Amino acid sequence: MSAVEQVAPGTPAPPAAPVLRAEGLRRTFGTFVAVDDVSIELRPGRVTALIGPNGAGKSTVINLLAGTLIPTAGQVRIADVRVEGLRAEEVALRGLARTFQTPKLYEGMTVLDMVMLARDRFGRASFLEIALRTPRTRRDRRASHAAAMAHLERVGLAHQADRLATSLPVGSQRLVDVARALASEPDVLLLDEPAAGLDHTETHDLTALIREIAAEGLAVLLVEHDMRMVMSIADDVVVLDRGRLLAAGTPKEVAADPAVIEAYLGTVAA
Ligand SMILES: Nc1ncnc2c1ncn2[C@@H]1O[C@H](COP(=O)(O)OP(=O)(O)OP(=O)(O)O)[C@@H](O)[C@H]1O
Ligand SMILES: [Mg+2]
Repeated sequence: MSAVEQVAPGTPAPPAAPVLRAEGLRRTFGTFVAVDDVSIELRPGRVTALIGPNGAGKSTVINLLAGTLIPTAGQVRIADVRVEGLRAEEVALRGLARTFQTPKLYEGMTVLDMVMLARDRFGRASFLEIALRTPRTRRDRRASHAAAMAHLERVGLAHQADRLATSLPVGSQRLVDVARALASEPDVLLLDEPAAGLDHTETHDLTALIREIAAEGLAVLLVEHDMRMVMSIADDVVVLDRGRLLAAGTPKEVAADPAVIEAYLGTVAA
């Protein structure tokens, strides 16, 4: 046997190292423990579904990973750099983008404006140059406009670019939020129930888009109640129940886990 291990032909490549690693996350609100000792790893090219009953702590976990909430205990690393305790804007600069269960769209802004906002950090013009509307500002703006339109195209909303974002149905508002998140060109994407309020065709298109995004190398965390979508899209599934990790594994392993069936799938099927 040689010292170098032989890899049999056809053996799948080992999964890439995690880009986001959270360990022992805990978050309390007063005496209430919303998230208790949760560890999660997100790898490039993989979709991890985070599921669990209402109130299980899924959105709180997203908020803890994204810097929207500070953990009471535990650590979050992006590319081996500790980020817990940083503000959400700083975590975003380290390559994390997230969508909101209730999209935060600004009154008076068009769909295109909302997505272009996310492109601001790519601008090279200084504040003074922006105030003076120099050629560089105009170039930045053209590049930002083109990129934002391309992301709207991906979520199927390019034809709504000039509408007021808040005038869209809530399902479409979630898709604007997905386009906004993608426009920041993240390495890690956290999606909080992006398919809620979408019809069958829209859900189907979004599922295909999420697969495509992962295939491009992003690490995706998907909070989703639609188990058909979860089963068809997830490489890994993490189940939360009352703030604690109940199970983790492949979709098949998790679906066959008696504790999961009792706590979650059973209630969905009922
Ligand atoms: N800011 C807060 N203050 C007090 N309690 C909170 C706060 N945020 C969340 N909680 C509580 O923490 C628990 C977990 O909430 P969370 O929103 O994370 O659940 P979830 O799994 O996302 O639920 P859903 O499926 O309904 O979106 C709930 O009991 C909720 O009421
Ligand atoms: Mg939630």
